[in-house]
Amino acid sequence: MDDNEFVNIRILDNFYQTSSFFPMPVVLISTISESGQINLGSYSLCFPHTISENHSMILTTRSNSNTAENIRRTKVCAINFIPYDKKSLKNCVLLGYPGETTEQKMKNNKFTLIPSQRTEEEKKVGVRYPDIVQEAFQVFECTWNDEYPIINNEETLECHFILKVDKILLKNKWKENIFKGKGFPSMPIDFGFRDNINFWFCKNTDPYSEQIPKEKGTTINTVMYAARRIEPDIEWTEEACEKLIKVPRIFLKMAIKGCVEAAKEEGIKIMTPEFMDKIRDKRSKDKQEK
Ligand SMILES: Cc1cc2nc3c(=O)[nH]c(=O)nc-3n(C[C@H](O)[C@H](O)[C@H](O)COP(=O)(O)O)c2cc1C
Repeated sequence: MDDNEFVNIRILDNFYQTSSFFPMPVVLISTISESGQINLGSYSLCFPHTISENHSMILTTRSNSNTAENIRRTKVCAINFIPYDKKSLKNCVLLGYPGETTEQKMKNNKFTLIPSQRTEEEKKVGVRYPDIVQEAFQVFECTWNDEYPIINNEETLECHFILKVDKILLKNKWKENIFKGKGFPSMPIDFGFRDNINFWFCKNTDPYSEQIPKEKGTTINTVMYAARRIEPDIEWTEEACEKLIKVPRIFLKMAIKGCVEAAKEEGIKIMTPEFMDKIRDKRSKDKQEK
């Protein structure tokens, strides 16, 4: 048979591991156990869920894992994205062994725990927030959205949590790079496939860029992306970006810079269409007066 021909494979439980190859992230989820100790659990089934407003992640876990029980009780957790290095991944596999209590498993923890980075204003009265992992290149501090039904499968004990992303923390270096679109952290990729003996990981290599065809034109995302690169401290609403969609690509940077300068002069942090109209009116008035 030709190697290149498609063949059927039976869809088994855990099909992403048993019936396919499936690239996934590797995260450590920190929660607070009943005794007050921080618990770290290893997870890969943790993906963006709602991406516009109410930003959230979806986590799939056994409903009796320490992580699931702690989230149900405390409603909070942090998703720590660990970098690729073999020592960390070894520890991550050890922290991913089911059936251990927090006290038992955390004796093996080699990651450094530091306090949540939520500011006093971001904290709810009376809520204790879990520590985060110092070695992570990025952390999402989250609150469980318990309005959303968790789907529990009584037999497999599978359950799903929608985790509202309250705060994204990036190490400084990566924050700078994300705006430049250059230089990425070394991230582990869980290959999906596992057997009874091993988990399989690999490291991302240096990515290359593939240019979006010119004829696809400017989109809200293009404007948003360019605006963030020019001045990360000013947030653009989608409606503001929309106003620049018709600007030819070669003039886009200049147009954004003009708006940014005006916003800075007036101490504006959020770019809105109303503010852009104000700048336009002011400029045409200035021109007429000259
Ligand atoms: C790399 C890796 C990824 C894992 N991903 C998941 C996952 O997405 N969902 C899950 O239920 N278990 C996953 N596990 C197994 C859990 O880590 C394991 O059930 C562990 O007991 C969870 O810790 P906790 O009980 O402290 O929450 C994974 C384990 C490893 C090593």
